Amino acid sequence: MTERVTRPSFTTSQLEAADGPGLNPTENATMGEIIAARFSRRGFLRGSLAVSAIAATVSPLAILTANEAHAGGASRFSFKEVEAGVDETHHVADGYDADVLLRWGDPIFPDSPAFDPAAQTADKQRRQFGYNNDYVGYIPLDGSSSHGLLVVNHEYTNEHLMFPGIVTVVEVPDEDNPGQTVQELQIAPADRNRVDVEMAAHGGTIVEIRRGSAGKWQVVRDGALNRRIMADTEMEIAGPAAGDPRLQTSADPTGRHVLGTINNCAGGVTPWGTYIMAEENFHGYFSGELPADHREAINHARYGVPDAAYAWAQFYDRFDLSKEPNEPNRFGWVVEVDPMDPNSVPRKRTALGRMKHEGAQNIVARDGRVVFYLGDDERFDYVYKFVTAGTYDPDDRAANMNLMDEGTLYVARFAEDGTMEWLPLVHGQGPLTAENGFESQADVLIEMRRAADLLGATKMDRPEDIEPNGANGRVYVMLTNNTRRDEADAANPRVENAFGHIIEIAEADGDFAATTGTWEVLLQCGDPAIAEVGATFSTETSENGWFGMPDNCAVDAEGRLWVSTDGNSPSGTGRTDGLWALDTADGARPTSRLFFRVPVGAEMCGPLPTPDLETMFVAVQHPADGGEDWDGFGRVSYYEDLSTRWPDFRPDMPTRPSVLAITRQGGGKIGMA
Ligand code: FEO
Ligand code: CA
Ligand code: CA
Ligand code: CA
Repeated sequence: MTERVTRPSFTTSQLEAADGPGLNPTENATMGEIIAARFSRRGFLRGSLAVSAIAATVSPLAILTANEAHAGGASRFSFKEVEAGVDETHHVADGYDADVLLRWGDPIFPDSPAFDPAAQTADKQRRQFGYNNDYVGYIPLDGSSSHGLLVVNHEYTNEHLMFPGIVTVVEVPDEDNPGQTVQELQIAPADRNRVDVEMAAHGGTIVEIRRGSAGKWQVVRDGALNRRIMADTEMEIAGPAAGDPRLQTSADPTGRHVLGTINNCAGGVTPWGTYIMAEENFHGYFSGELPADHREAINHARYGVPDAAYAWAQFYDRFDLSKEPNEPNRFGWVVEVDPMDPNSVPRKRTALGRMKHEGAQNIVARDGRVVFYLGDDERFDYVYKFVTAGTYDPDDRAANMNLMDEGTLYVARFAEDGTMEWLPLVHGQGPLTAENGFESQADVLIEMRRAADLLGATKMDRPEDIEPNGANGRVYVMLTNNTRRDEADAANPRVENAFGHIIEIAEADGDFAATTGTWEVLLQCGDPAIAEVGATFSTETSENGWFGMPDNCAVDAEGRLWVSTDGNSPSGTGRTDGLWALDTADGARPTSRLFFRVPVGAEMCGPLPTPDLETMFVAVQHPADGGEDWDGFGRVSYYEDLSTRWPDFRPDMPTRPSVLAITRQGGGKIGMA
């Protein structure tokens, strides 16, 4: 018996991007509506005298692409751009080395068994680097940019790429093209070993690394702080929702102890050197039926639980809703890990709310409070931030260790006039009362999406990473795409937002803890040569320089913005995902340049510049997941027939998600003259 899986097999990208309108049932305004009303703020009206005459028949954004669109000032980046395209390997700008530092299955302890993909077991995987590296953080040891801890999230697993002998390829009728067939992957039902390997390949890795005399980074395998965190690692639940009855299960009647973390997408490192892992698409791990009138029915529906993408419930009752209806409430949080103590118990910080957390980049505000920016990655969901109640003490690390348990959570409402408000999610305020089913702050946090719905937050086009820039007081919000809006009208030219956009927030008075601010659309992504797309890259951006689907980002020590993407493809944008450098001068169209690109089928994660800017760590996630739309391959990709065997290119070795260290040949800062 086989279980039928539509081609290609499950990936989190598919969970994120799956067809469907999103799960937000409210009438709150969408960002697209507001952008359309607002777009003139960034250069549209400049030199657009003909707008009023032709706007009736041509979309304003199409006009925009035809008008003057130069970037302001000299570029802050200096490197020769990579050529955009698709092939089986990675490419970095001339004059740089991109060296593989860590691959799926690599040993990270002295006793780690050698990687043998044909005979993988959970016990082996527990001592090896996990799968699908996403967030990468660097925690300097003794303030060093050449010796530190690398912290890496392992977001999810792709079984058809990981396990031998489980895929059958069949030809099935193509529903879109009558008379034609398409290839479909059928995947054998999971067994216990497969599920246990998957669980051990999730989570995160903490590993000591050092830059050697030749300038090359190496893993310190006997590093005393090296650690794997997995889907069954013991964790505490902390903050206002800890102990709440809705977090209690038969295995944990206290509601304070949970096993593991899953689908850790992006994350962050705090000023006190802890590692933040954001739990994103947790719905995919739950199966089973919840009675329709069960207390959690509305809650679970708002998060898409259950999705049953994984078979874990067949072997672990806690992932079966009919047996443990509260277990999903114990996921969808931000997890804080102290990497300086390998025996520390990670804590789920419930004060930051429950959602499909993309990441948790953070910064110390002027008054010492710490501000975390949080995206909820779903069509029509929201942008949040959390401001701690206490202040950061740079001289007393221990005093900071529970800062994340107390503070105020806010959700963003963007107004058409370019202002914005951060609306507090506080029990008892506004609609967040018992009449609406919120008996306590724990209820507000557990059902944060529904609470934000009631506050009238602005529905966004899939918020991914959000990064504050201490150099200019701005905040960059990556919105990856959304083609499911039904509010199509002439005033909303990006109702089909296939390529995403970036918003720049200026917090009031440059204070990251402010409750108001202003905002601009910094960039609408996509191919600027196609007027209907409405992309707003500057005319100095080359054919290689434009991109779609912004996802992760980084602000480097020079205050420059780097953007990595998830969703570029041979048939979509004619290019793989990659890492682009973005000039963001005030009032000008951004100029973008391609610095690094991934192999076919992969997504670009990281990126992470070291404090000295001499290294850029990047994470190549799910290489070979796809490739059928690439002329160089042209069929479905799976373990036995992969679209790329990057990075080893050995016939006995499957493709392996990997973290790379990019350095400059001869030394020097990344992307500087
Ligand atoms: Fe895991 Fe929203 O990207
Ligand atoms: Ca991902
Ligand atoms: Ca992401
Ligand atoms: Ca993504």
